[in-house]
Amino acid sequence: MKIITAYQEFKEFRNTLESISFVPTMGNLHKGHMTLIDKAKSYDAHVSASIFINPLQFNDTSDFNNYPKSLDDDIALLSKHGCDSVFIPDSSILENIKEIKAPDTALYLCGMNRPGHFDGVLTIVNKLFEITKPTRSFFGKKDFQQLTLIKNFVKENNLPVEIISVDTVRELNGLAMSSRNNRLSESDREKASKLYETLSLIKDNSNKLSNEIINKHKDDL
Ligand code: PAF
Repeated sequence: MKIITAYQEFKEFRNTLESISFVPTMGNLHKGHMTLIDKAKSYDAHVSASIFINPLQFNDTSDFNNYPKSLDDDIALLSKHGCDSVFIPDSSILENIKEIKAPDTALYLCGMNRPGHFDGVLTIVNKLFEITKPTRSFFGKKDFQQLTLIKNFVKENNLPVEIISVDTVRELNGLAMSSRNNRLSESDREKASKLYETLSLIKDNSNKLSNEIINKHKDDL
């Protein structure tokens, strides 16, 4: 697997490739990321991942500083999984970066509690697309709001990249796999898994829902 850290070098490398399937990540890779790589491998194209912990999308410095880092393991996992190249830029990628403002829909759902988060996501994704010029790029449905905002951004700006969404991978207890789960205590993990259980139950029983059922499950959370 080719490892590239300088973005100028990646741009030159990209010019030698016909098409590229691109998986952007912030590292600390797990099975969920590997399903993105697997999906990327199902197309006849060079498969490239990126690893960059983007400070622009953290509204809390301690969250950024404590974000789990496992670069050597990540590189080994990508290589073992058949990824063809990985782009690992340093913070110079942020110099003179074009700031993207997310639309107002980013102020709802999880954006409500993370001011500036989606501006930061769109800003870095736009920059990564500029460098890697992907034919297609892969995002998990786990981050559904992110996925929707990226799809809309690409459409509105006529970017020549196809956005492919990939199903969520879950732990045995139903919790969606996420690098951030490493920061949860055992009891918080257990609580978090109840969210999926409860939402699935509500979905499966949508025709016979009552306030009583909803309140009972609210108490579980
Ligand atoms: O989903 C992520 O890991 C990040 O938000 C992304 C898309 C790599 C941008 O930093």
